[in-house]
Amino acid sequence: MVHFAVMTVADLDAVAAAEARIYAFPWTRGNFADSLAAGHEAWLAEQGGRMIGYAVVMQVLDEAHLLNISVLPELQRGGRGSALLGHLCGQARQRAATRMLLEVRPGNLAGQEFYRRHGFVEIGRRRDYYPAPEGREDAIVMAREL
Ligand SMILES: CC(C)(COP(=O)(O)OP(=O)(O)OC[C@H]1O[C@@H](n2cnc3c(N)ncnc32)[C@H](O)[C@@H]1OP(=O)(O)O)[C@@H](O)C(=O)NCCC(=O)NCCS
Repeated sequence: MVHFAVMTVADLDAVAAAEARIYAFPWTRGNFADSLAAGHEAWLAEQGGRMIGYAVVMQVLDEAHLLNISVLPELQRGGRGSALLGHLCGQARQRAATRMLLEVRPGNLAGQEFYRRHGFVEIGRRRDYYPAPEGREDAIVMAREL
């Protein structure tokens, strides 16, 4: 059973350490701190009393922008990311969001499959959005109605 808790500054060392294990180009502790300071919604997913994932959502008017969703590498593909995304969509609906959107790397086929599985469709591209090993990489923008 996955539980959800609001992410606070006290969680940031653990979150940044997890992030560095999950991504080639991780958010820094400062990026997460900035998100909390900006008032974005940030959640921990917990199981058996420990953090197994986390997510950050920025809502502007009726649009919820998913900025980060992550599950610890050794626990991926076990339904936890789906539970976390379901929680985020429920929260966004409660805040009167009608749409969720996100960016994903073209090379992140698993991520794209995950989002498609949850009803997201590609709505466009953003040029040179991500840092990449050589220069920059485009982002695929995906969205779904809530
Ligand atoms: C993307 C992520 C959050 C999904 O969480 P998860 O717990 O692994 O996902 P779930 O087990 O809930 O997966 C649900 C479905 O998504 C798809 N999916 C998830 N991981 C996949 C993979 N590696 N390859 C293909 N499809 C995948 C499948 O359709 C899966 O259903 P199935 O297992 O019944 O086939 C997680 O894998 C993760 O943290 N990945 C690394 C970070 C990342 O890429 N985040 C998104 C950046 S935009």
